[in-house]
Amino acid sequence: MFLRENEIGRRLAPHLRPGDRLLDYGAGTGRISRWLAKRVSVHPTMADLVEYGNRCRELPFLKMEDPFHVPAPDAAFDVVMLLFALHHNPYESQSKVVGEAARLAGRSIVVLEDTPRTRAEWVMNVAWDKVLNLRHGVPTPFSFRTVHEWQAMFLEHGLREAGVETYRPRWPTLMTYHHTLFVLEPESARDFESA
Ligand SMILES: C[S@@+](CC[C@H](N)C(=O)[O-])C[C@H]1O[C@@H](n2cnc3c(N)ncnc32)[C@H](O)[C@@H]1O
Repeated sequence: MFLRENEIGRRLAPHLRPGDRLLDYGAGTGRISRWLAKRVSVHPTMADLVEYGNRCRELPFLKMEDPFHVPAPDAAFDVVMLLFALHHNPYESQSKVVGEAARLAGRSIVVLEDTPRTRAEWVMNVAWDKVLNLRHGVPTPFSFRTVHEWQAMFLEHGLREAGVETYRPRWPTLMTYHHTLFVLEPESARDFESA
């Protein structure tokens, strides 16, 4: 799966700075965090409800008991990443996860999400989601949203959109549906900059 790490890591890298304290909220194996630590010199912390047997052991890991609470103080991280984590929560609780990310982020939140555009893409997305998550026991409610629906939710949390990019990833899903990268700034970061 190193092809996936390269593809995703290269998209995320321009939004990170060397030395950043990075929270990987819903980290899974943590391989993307490890890629970023090596290539961009960030300091990742992994957090997840599920403890993957094959997770990167060299990175700090916060085992979560509550999906809406990461045990860390407000703005404890420069950047919070939510990579393909939100759609593993039911529709009605996704906003709470975004709220928790906003509490923890000092400068920005980076979200990557599956954003299928057509019925055919949605079918492919469901199939890949099932296959890729089965062995780790991660719930797959298939609660995908459109780009506009995510944007509306981020706005409700006062998050300013500093960047958005929709594309068809090559790995591992062979360009069968779209992903979208959102770069968001919490209100507290803007207050700090203007002070
Ligand atoms: C598809 S995996 C993606 C893993 C990793 N971010 C990546 O892209 O390689 C989704 C992960 O998010 C985690 N997750 C989803 N919702 C979560 C929540 N509310 N709190 C903590 N972890 C969550 C799941 O347990 C799972 O490990």
